[in-house]
Amino acid sequence: MYKYQDLGLTNIDEMMAKAYREGYAIPAFNFISIEQYSGIIDAISELKSPVMLLVSPNLLRQLGGTIIGRISQSGVDRMKEMGLNPEISLHLDHGMKYEDCVEAINYGFSSVMIDGSALSFEDNIALTKKVVDYAHSRGVSVEGELGVLSGAEEEGEHANDSSKYTDPKKVEEFVRRTDVDCLAISIGTSHGLVKMKADKNGNLPELKYEILKEIEKNVPNFPIVLHGSSALIPKYMKMINDYGGNIPNSVGIPEEQVAKVAKMAVCKVNIASDGWVTALGLTRKILAENPASIDSRVFTLKVRPALKEVYINKIKLLGSENKLK
Ligand code: 13P
Repeated sequence: MYKYQDLGLTNIDEMMAKAYREGYAIPAFNFISIEQYSGIIDAISELKSPVMLLVSPNLLRQLGGTIIGRISQSGVDRMKEMGLNPEISLHLDHGMKYEDCVEAINYGFSSVMIDGSALSFEDNIALTKKVVDYAHSRGVSVEGELGVLSGAEEEGEHANDSSKYTDPKKVEEFVRRTDVDCLAISIGTSHGLVKMKADKNGNLPELKYEILKEIEKNVPNFPIVLHGSSALIPKYMKMINDYGGNIPNSVGIPEEQVAKVAKMAVCKVNIASDGWVTALGLTRKILAENPASIDSRVFTLKVRPALKEVYINKIKLLGSENKLK
């Protein structure tokens, strides 16, 4: 059993409160490879940004909590060596069961998400509250979810094919009865490659800012989380298909829309797919151009700086640059 404090990781409550006060959002990046992880640490070190490292229950099982905890600790240590004062939280993304959250907390995660969004309102409250009780007794913060996003979290996972916007009238009761520390809502984003659809004139829809504003009114100063926020970077989406891939020509969430809500009550913005498509696009291209290579560094050495660039752009977009103490 590990404690996040011993790994040098940061609790998110203060990070979120500062982000709310100052009108920016914490970048919350999923990682599944060491290049993505290194790219994240490179970017936050250069721009002096706080970060939340998102780990799915699948990755927790694949790598094991001890390895994930130590990897996260290494970023803290590296930034300290550079004379920085890192604020890195390790966060379980979409815990689906109470046991997922307990496992993550016992391995030193500093916050967990319990996603009861597919349950009834009452069952979602009961599950979320159970996680909150366990987590808070250990100083760990909890993110809940109300409203349903479409798309799949990870390949092979069950995909929701319909979304349901968050009902702003239910948010205050949910927050009060569960005592969650932040809440993911549904205002028009979705996970993975199922994202925005242009109308017949080619215009993309706008996120539902009015829902967010009403939520903000009902739970003042309470941090809101936006999932499914990738832009699906066209250059890398195209690169995947140009080099043997077969993905749909999906359109992501326009960056100006994400930037707009980051100035509102949204204090945490989740981004996974932009890291995935960047790494995959470049890997496919470089492998195709180097058919005789047997050393994976032929692509890993190029993928890391490209990812750093992607994460740097996100940090600037969300306004979290120079926000370390
Ligand atoms: P994207 O698929 O848009 O990157 O969203 C990821 C996410 O919300 C993870 O929880």
